[in-house]
Amino acid sequence: MPKHQISVVVLAAGKGTRMKSKLHKVLHAIGGKPMLHHLLDSVEELSPQKTVLVVGADREQVEAQARSCEVVTQTEQLGTGHAVMVTKPALQGIAGDVLVLYGDVPFIPTKLMEQMITAKAATANTGLVVLGFRPKEPAKYGRLVTTPDGALERIVEFKDATDSERQINLCNSGMMLIDGSKMFPWLASLSNNNASGEYYLTDLVAAARADDYNVSVVEASEEDVLGINSREDLALAEATFQGKMRQRALSGGVTMTDPSTVYFSYDTHIGADVTIEPGVVFGPNVTIEDGVTIKAYSHIEGAHIRTGATVGPFARLRPGTDVGENAKIGNFVEVKKAKLEQGVKVSHLSYIGDATIGAEANIGAGTITCNYDGFLKFETHIGAGAFIGSNSALVAPVTIGDGALVGAGSVITKDVESDALAVARGQQRNRAGFAATFRETQAAKKAAQSDKKKGR
Ligand code: UD1
Ligand code: CA
Repeated sequence: MPKHQISVVVLAAGKGTRMKSKLHKVLHAIGGKPMLHHLLDSVEELSPQKTVLVVGADREQVEAQARSCEVVTQTEQLGTGHAVMVTKPALQGIAGDVLVLYGDVPFIPTKLMEQMITAKAATANTGLVVLGFRPKEPAKYGRLVTTPDGALERIVEFKDATDSERQINLCNSGMMLIDGSKMFPWLASLSNNNASGEYYLTDLVAAARADDYNVSVVEASEEDVLGINSREDLALAEATFQGKMRQRALSGGVTMTDPSTVYFSYDTHIGADVTIEPGVVFGPNVTIEDGVTIKAYSHIEGAHIRTGATVGPFARLRPGTDVGENAKIGNFVEVKKAKLEQGVKVSHLSYIGDATIGAEANIGAGTITCNYDGFLKFETHIGAGAFIGSNSALVAPVTIGDGALVGAGSVITKDVESDALAVARGQQRNRAGFAATFRETQAAKKAAQSDKKKGR
C-alpha cells in the first residue's frame, strides 16, 4: 500500500492587503526562509502525488519559488471554496484524498497532517476531516458547530454566526482533508448566499453531512495553526520560530548566556559544546562545529566554523568564509570568501576578502586585503606560518610565501617568497637633538611676535 494516496492544495490567492507589501505574503521570510517553503518542507515529507498552489494576480513572483508545485491562478478571489474549485483541471485523474492548506499558515507539522489522514481512514464513510483549534481569542474565526453527541455538524463563519454560535470556542483553522472522489461534486453544490458573498470552503461540512458522510475534527494547538495576515503576525511567527531554534540549540548542547538575543537562520547547523554569547545573528548557510565559541555581537552568514575556533566579539563573517580548526577571529574583523586554515589568527580590525591563509599564520591588527580595484576582484594568498605586520595593505593579486614576514605598515604589491622579509614603507630617519632645537627656535619666534603686538 502506498504511504498515502494524497494530493495537496495550498491556497495563496488572497490579496494579503494588511501586509502592505509589494512582496507576495507567502514569500515573506521567517528565519530567513519564505513562509511558503516552511509549509512546503512539511508537505514534501508526506510525498504527495501532486501539490497545487493557488495564486492570484502576482503569479510570477510566487511561481519562481513554487518548487515542485503546479501553480494555478484564481483570477477573482471569490472565496476559499472557489479557490479549491479552480484546481479541478490540475487534479484531473488524480486518485486519493485532497488536503487543503493555507500558504499563510506555515507551521503545520507533518505529524498533524498525518493525524488528519489517520482520522479519515478510521471509518469508511468519513468524507471530511477538519483541523480545529481553541484559540485564546476566538475573534473572527469560523466556529465548529457540533451535534449533542459531539459530531461536527457545520462550520459557521463569524460574520454569519448568531450570538450563541459566537460563544463556541472550537474554531476552524481552515485546513481540511477532503474525500477526493467527492470533493468537486460537493464544491459544485456551494452557494455564495452569505454575509461575504463568497463560496465558503467551510460549507463542505454541511454538504458532506447532507450526503450522509461523517465529518471528524482533529484538534491542533494554536501555535501549529498560526496564520500570518500582518507584519505584526509575521514578527510573532518569527519569535515563535526563533524560540524553537533556541530550544533546539540548547538541547543540542549549546551554551547561550542570553538565548533571547541570539537569532538563528532556518538552516543554522551547530555542533555540541558550542558557546554563543549575547547578540549574535546567524544569516543563512552557517555551520558551526563542536567546541566553537562565538563571542558577543557577531554577525555570521554563509560561513563554516571548524572545531575549537573562536570568533568575535563584534566579528562579521560573510559568505564563503571557512574558519579552520582552533583559528581565532577577533574583534572588528570582517572576512568574506576566504579559507583560513587551522590555527590562523586574525585578532583585530582587519578585512580579509578573496583570500586563503595557511595554517598558523598570524595576521596583524589592521591588515587589509585590497581585493577590489573598482572593477574586478583579485585574490590574496598567504602561506602557512606567515606573519603579517600590523596595518599592512596586501594589494591583490598577491602571494605571501610560507613563513614570510611582512613589516608593519607595508603596502605589499609584489609577491613575497617563502621565509623572506618584505618591508614596503618609507624609511625611518632619526636626527639627534632636532626636536629640542626646534622647540627652542619656535618658542623664540612666538615670543618675538607677541612683543610686537603689544608694541614693545
Ligand atoms: C478562513 C475560514 C475560517 C477560518 C479562517 C482561519 C472560510 C470561508 N473561512 O477565513 O473559517 O477560521 O480561515 O484563518 O474558509 N484564499 C484564496 N482565494 C480566495 C479566498 C481566500 O486563495 O478567494 C486563500 C487566502 O490566500 C488564505 C486562505 O485562503 O491563504 C484563507 O483566506 P482568508 O480570507 O484569510 O479566510 P478567512 O476569511 O480568514
Ligand atoms: Ca486569514
